[in-house]
Amino acid sequence: MEINQNARTVLERRYLIRNSQGQTMETVEQLFERVANAIAQPDEKFHPDADPTKTAKEFLEVLTSLDFLPNSPTLMNAGRPLGQLSACFVLPVDDSMEDIFESIKNAALIHKSGGGTGFSFSRLRPKGSTVNTTGGVASGPVSFMRVFNMATEAVKQGGTRRGANMGILRVDHPDILEFIDCKKVNTEITNFNISVGITEAFMEAVERGEEYPLIDPSTNRVTGTLNAREVFDKIVDSAWRNGEPGIIFLDRLNRDNVVPSQGEIESTNPCGEQPLLPYEACNLGSINLTRMVKETVDGRFEMDWDHLGRTVATAVHFLDNVIEANRYPLAIIDQVTRSTRKIGLGVMGWADALLMLGLPYGSPESIQLAHEVMEFINQKGHEASERLAEERGAFPLFEESTLKDGSPLRNATITTIAPTGTLSIIAGCSSGVEPVFAYVFIRNIMDGTEMIEVNPILKRELTRRGLYSDDLMRRIAKEGTIAHMDDIPEDIRRVFLSAHDISPEAHIRMQAAFQDHTDNAVSKTVNFPHDATREDVAQVYRLAYRLGCKGVTIYRDGSRDSQVLNIGKVS
Ligand code: CDP
Repeated sequence: MEINQNARTVLERRYLIRNSQGQTMETVEQLFERVANAIAQPDEKFHPDADPTKTAKEFLEVLTSLDFLPNSPTLMNAGRPLGQLSACFVLPVDDSMEDIFESIKNAALIHKSGGGTGFSFSRLRPKGSTVNTTGGVASGPVSFMRVFNMATEAVKQGGTRRGANMGILRVDHPDILEFIDCKKVNTEITNFNISVGITEAFMEAVERGEEYPLIDPSTNRVTGTLNAREVFDKIVDSAWRNGEPGIIFLDRLNRDNVVPSQGEIESTNPCGEQPLLPYEACNLGSINLTRMVKETVDGRFEMDWDHLGRTVATAVHFLDNVIEANRYPLAIIDQVTRSTRKIGLGVMGWADALLMLGLPYGSPESIQLAHEVMEFINQKGHEASERLAEERGAFPLFEESTLKDGSPLRNATITTIAPTGTLSIIAGCSSGVEPVFAYVFIRNIMDGTEMIEVNPILKRELTRRGLYSDDLMRRIAKEGTIAHMDDIPEDIRRVFLSAHDISPEAHIRMQAAFQDHTDNAVSKTVNFPHDATREDVAQVYRLAYRLGCKGVTIYRDGSRDSQVLNIGKVS
């Protein structure tokens, strides 16, 4: 099996089974066998004459070729006693002391097993309102977020990976101003990403410059009003300063809620790509698009649609089996998750695939291809889920879902685009649908030597033209982008763009293209140069809203020292 040294290091450090003395008890190859065997097993439940060995072989093939990888908890825990295989959970936080601390306990159990949790704090009564039983005053959502944050901090020590949280507050909650500022001091609430839940009514009030009502969720009474434009500007200002809060469009999320009878979607998982109902979990998996591009006889590259179609079918089968093999941390999560059977199949290596195809990230051609690729994956994914429904039955809530007039589906949602922070390191490709951040890294090794890591596609291109040298690589590492390097041919510079060579508008148009064909949401950060203005940020927010994105996360270069999940770094 071909994997690079970084991938091996990540797997050895975090994913391989260890004994009580800390020695690794399996090889990387055995890890993939363990996962393939465990996830093939559930086939037996549905077919008396099923052959899990054959399925395991098919699964092993897609894993070891790095065509497809399931999310980290599946790699870590499949075929092991813990057996918790999902990356994403949403937990309710109801307005009582019992419910709040129940939620903290449940989050701890999830973090211990490698999952991330999202919460909406919108149901909590505002700060300063009365507590009936004691006559005291309520602390409000932000102060409880600090308690959640501390619990996460403590669990970090013993868990499989550091716990990550999403905290959401509706824009019409009376504590919204405090929430927007709650991460201003960036040593606080560090284990959370935060997003404001934006409503369409709010966006309309912003356009018209009107006041909008704030509502106490415990009484449903209007407690006051705020000027929508001022609140919008405050969100923009805070995001401009340090990247937070993000925003999510609640009405847009709920238009794609396929089982509204089960309640509203109020939150997403930590990185925003997976909207879920309270107590719902979802397992993700990503197809490596660099493996779905083939070389033609005349040395060009093109999409290998056949290969992609087959990989999607295997991936959907795999992810549906994960639901069966999964050991959920709570009985209620098991029950809610199985009633919709959501899966989240997405992609990684998109930017690298574009480099192979010679298309600049963000160009009209690249956005057109994003539509074609994701539409194809979504379509093939739905077909695979339909075939599974014929064999195994539709998801239990199908008849009360918005999908009931179409063909029965095994899974209420099929597609999600994850950040693939660790998966992309394992697969050795660019992460998710993000552009390439840097083409060259120089690492200093302890004995004083340096290691130069170069994007494999750039390396191949420069080597092919006889231009590759360590000196040039050092210069690229220093400059961060090759866009202005005159000694590199123009046709290479035009295609090999870095995140900061791409306009924020092109970032959001790429996100919107993928969102158009994705059941759940798309993990994407829009990068701004350091000198971007607040108005630049505001424009991207408005564009994202108009284009039907489900949320926006921005980051202005150099505006923060550290963040909860550093995409591209092992967390
Ligand atoms: O690449 P990998 O499967 O490790 O994860 P990812 O695609 O970067 O993140 C997918 C989801 O996993 C995130 O949205 C979180 O829900 C969860 N996650 C987490 O809980 N803790 C982390 N340290 C990283 C990811």
